[in-house]
Amino acid sequence: MDLAGKHAIVTGGASGIGRGIALRLARAGADVALFDVNEDGLQTVAHEVESCGRRSVTAKVDVSDSAAVRDGVHQVRREFGVLDILVCSAGICTFVPFLQMDDATFDRMLAVHVRGVFLCCREVAPDMIAAGRGRIVNVASVAGLNGGGAGLAHYAAAKGGIIALTKALAQELGPAGVTVNAIAPGLIDTPMVRGSGMADDFIRQIGQRVPVRRVGQPDDIAAACAYLVSDDAGFITGQVISPNGGGYL
Ligand SMILES: NC(=O)c1ccc[n+]([C@@H]2O[C@H](COP(=O)([O-])OP(=O)(O)OC[C@H]3O[C@@H](n4cnc5c(N)ncnc54)[C@H](O)[C@@H]3O)[C@@H](O)[C@H]2O)c1
Repeated sequence: MDLAGKHAIVTGGASGIGRGIALRLARAGADVALFDVNEDGLQTVAHEVESCGRRSVTAKVDVSDSAAVRDGVHQVRREFGVLDILVCSAGICTFVPFLQMDDATFDRMLAVHVRGVFLCCREVAPDMIAAGRGRIVNVASVAGLNGGGAGLAHYAAAKGGIIALTKALAQELGPAGVTVNAIAPGLIDTPMVRGSGMADDFIRQIGQRVPVRRVGQPDDIAAACAYLVSDDAGFITGQVISPNGGGYL
């Protein structure tokens, strides 16, 4: 995939899937700006992007905060100029039984995921429309397709919201040359999953239950993303691609 000369923003780029996507895009030739709340992670991944020979910009941005998103995008515009690619991967995940879920827990999940995607797309879309081209990829989840499971009502609702938002934006921005797609990963081995308390054995067992007999890695998602942001994917918009090893068909 040749992304030479392209400029990308990756939210949640300090860790896991976002980091994998940032590095994949950098290896394909793109300069990559990273938005995240994890400042140490931002610095580490920025150095990794730069070791690929590409430029990197970092901004401490909570994607649910419209002023922070606006300032972060301004900073990237100043450094990079044209914005070609936006990947929204920032996310959180908690397991909370539905009847114990308080308002704040539900609202925060929706704010980081649905509002976060909304704010980032709204900030970047005018640049893409003016350029007559652009690629947006939003990271949803299999949970947004199948409801996730017990304890994930807020997460599933947020990811389903991202999928619907993606399809709406695809229709509205398509005529301007901007494609908008979603990726709905299955279980991917990242700090989010490790931090959820799942034991190694349990993670391995989940991997053994899917047709390809393994848990996904961030680069499995990055590979799909690199295709969706490439020039080759110009006829693909409003779609949900689900790299999940066949675990959800
Ligand atoms: N790992 C999986 O199995 C899996 C499966 C399906 C979907 N996803 C989704 O993939 C995305 C990436 O998850 P991951 O597994 O790489 O997790 P991760 O925790 O490794 O990375 C998520 C990143 O998002 C950042 N972040 C969290 N809240 C933020 C906010 N408000 N503003 C900016 N940055 C914020 C975190 O600091 C972190 O760097 C998430 O949207 C997640 O829901 C993950």
